[in-house]
Amino acid sequence: MQNFRFLNKTEIIFGKDTQKEVGAEVKKHGSKVLLHYGSGHIKKSGLYDEVIESLNESNVDFIELGGVKPNPRLALVREGIALCREHKVDFILSVGGGSVIDSAKAIAVGARYDGDVWDFFYDKAVIKQAIPNGVVLTIPAAGSESSDGSVITDLPNKNKRHIGSPLIIPTFAIMNPELTYTLPAYQTACGTSDIMAHVMERYFTNVKDVDFTDRLCESTLKTMIHNAPLALANPSDYASRSEIMWAGTLAHNNLLDTGREGDWSTHMIEHEISGINDVAHGAGLSIVFPAYLKYVYKHDIARFVQFAVRVWNVDQSFGNPEQTALEGIARLESFLKSLGLPTMLSQIDLDESSFERIATNCRKTNDDGVGYFVKLYEQDIKNILKLAL
Ligand code: NZQ
Ligand code: ZN
Repeated sequence: MQNFRFLNKTEIIFGKDTQKEVGAEVKKHGSKVLLHYGSGHIKKSGLYDEVIESLNESNVDFIELGGVKPNPRLALVREGIALCREHKVDFILSVGGGSVIDSAKAIAVGARYDGDVWDFFYDKAVIKQAIPNGVVLTIPAAGSESSDGSVITDLPNKNKRHIGSPLIIPTFAIMNPELTYTLPAYQTACGTSDIMAHVMERYFTNVKDVDFTDRLCESTLKTMIHNAPLALANPSDYASRSEIMWAGTLAHNNLLDTGREGDWSTHMIEHEISGINDVAHGAGLSIVFPAYLKYVYKHDIARFVQFAVRVWNVDQSFGNPEQTALEGIARLESFLKSLGLPTMLSQIDLDESSFERIATNCRKTNDDGVGYFVKLYEQDIKNILKLAL
């Protein structure tokens, strides 16, 4: 196990009716607040009214910016930055999923910086300050409610880019699983794929003697494998919705990679794909992850056998470990398919003509090769994409 420091400052406020506490919670942290939300589901579900009522009851002074789209856009971030400067906002409240939260985080750093926020996404500036932010989560997926990341898309240029800083980890996250009952089945499935990908990115590591975190990863994956079909069959099932919601946070709050080094190349490849064709992140991952695993499994067959046996209950073939390893990957792929997710690029209308761009862009910010488990270069990335055709 490697040396590590672990701090995750997000206070989790979990359970039924917790959204009613939002006003009191925000009041503790801000005097002028930006309420940030998406394209409208919170207005349909009544959550918007509940949040406004709670903010008013606690006499919170706030302004609003809605309209965040999935794969959140740089243009709206810039609008939010201008609003925050004009109104001297000192706290940002996101109500929504990863896209809303990521947009809020980018606004938070951009509003406390004299240059253009996009500088941070190309390592042209270092994040030194950010407006604090809090969250009411409506979809378990990205883990942004307690992560140090934000991913923003510059749509006209088809560029999706990432920043990371402890300064953007939310101060609190209100998580009521009941708020996820209204999720379309496809979004529940995409969320499941993303949560499992966050665990697998960490699971496939070269660091030895990480049995405890291996087992945390395996139990998180098994929790998702058990509960996602239950939530899809019965969207208002509190038990499965709550397991998924808590697993989604722990999958990405950095607990699972304590003492180890994750890979992240699948995420880097997927971000290029969703930057180009605006596919949901979880759907992009369900295509790239099985292909990536098929491409790299020979790098550490023993780890893939462990994955197959412990996570997917594959009967170990002692004479043929490769067969066991491949069966684990096959079971992952059929599980993703069973959720209604795409597992081939043709299902999202992406063909070989985009491979060059994806591979070059991935490498642009990774001089030393992409990923940590196996270093990938342009041709490797193209080979992985070919396996997903
Ligand atoms: O726009 P609204 O009306 O909110 O509708 C959303 C959106 O259409 C809808 N939705 C959310 N909660 C709902 C609901 N519909 C009905 N009922 C509910 N309770 O679902 C759609 C997708 O929402 P989005 O926020 O885009 O989903 P998700 O949480 O999967 O976020 C995806 C984004 O997060 C980034 C992804 O790249 C992508 O841009 N990621 C962020 C990370 C981070 N900050 O740490 C890490 C991840 O790896 C990921 O890259
Ligand atoms: Zn992800």
